[in-house]
Amino acid sequence: MKLVVGITGASGAPYARATLAALVAARKTRPIELAVVLSSTAQEVWSTELEGDLEEHVRSLDIPVFRGRDYRAPFASGSAKWDSMVIVPCSMSTVARIAHGTSDSLLTRAADVILKERRRLVLVPRETPLSVIHLENLLTVARAGAVVLPAMPSFYARPRGVDDVLHSVVGRILDQLGLDDPRTARWGTPAKEVP
Ligand SMILES: Cc1cc2nc3c(=O)[nH]c(=O)nc-3n(C[C@H](O)[C@H](O)[C@H](O)COP(=O)(O)O)c2cc1C
Repeated sequence: MKLVVGITGASGAPYARATLAALVAARKTRPIELAVVLSSTAQEVWSTELEGDLEEHVRSLDIPVFRGRDYRAPFASGSAKWDSMVIVPCSMSTVARIAHGTSDSLLTRAADVILKERRRLVLVPRETPLSVIHLENLLTVARAGAVVLPAMPSFYARPRGVDDVLHSVVGRILDQLGLDDPRTARWGTPAKEVP
């Protein structure tokens, strides 16, 4: 499986960090080739919400990082056959640009490629409230085949802290990617203790 993770300048850097951690854990049990592509504002929001440098963090996980308009990245072409892309968190600006096929950065080009190849694109917006423009753009991308998975945590599993709240979204992201996160609380199933 070849999976690219896009990170934009929407609030929700902790979702990006938790998703990367879950994917790195999933990579231990099955072969997953991971790559990360950053928008030009991703770092700014990361340093506002978390400690440290985003690019260094990704490299410390042994994942290659791309940015800007580096259209020579492998997933910039459909012929490279990348299976899936998740954009977490996904800003409304990026949703708008994907909805209109601008491909004005590597990140939006990668999403455009996934859609044209009819592969799996999962968008995790965080904005609230949503304007009619946001809703129309989200509908456009959903009609084009993207899964819109808002960062809306659930509470029925009684989260014990921020990590559990984050994982109630991250688990749903991995579900959409065809992967399993052992921490995912499933309705009707007793919670598993994950160290
Ligand atoms: C701290 C911070 C939080 C932000 N949160 C959001 C957000 O939750 N949703 C959103 O759509 N934009 C948010 N923005 C605005 C985006 O960063 C801005 O629209 C930017 O142009 C997005 O570009 P990108 O999609 O290329 O990353 C935030 C900006 C900052 C600095």
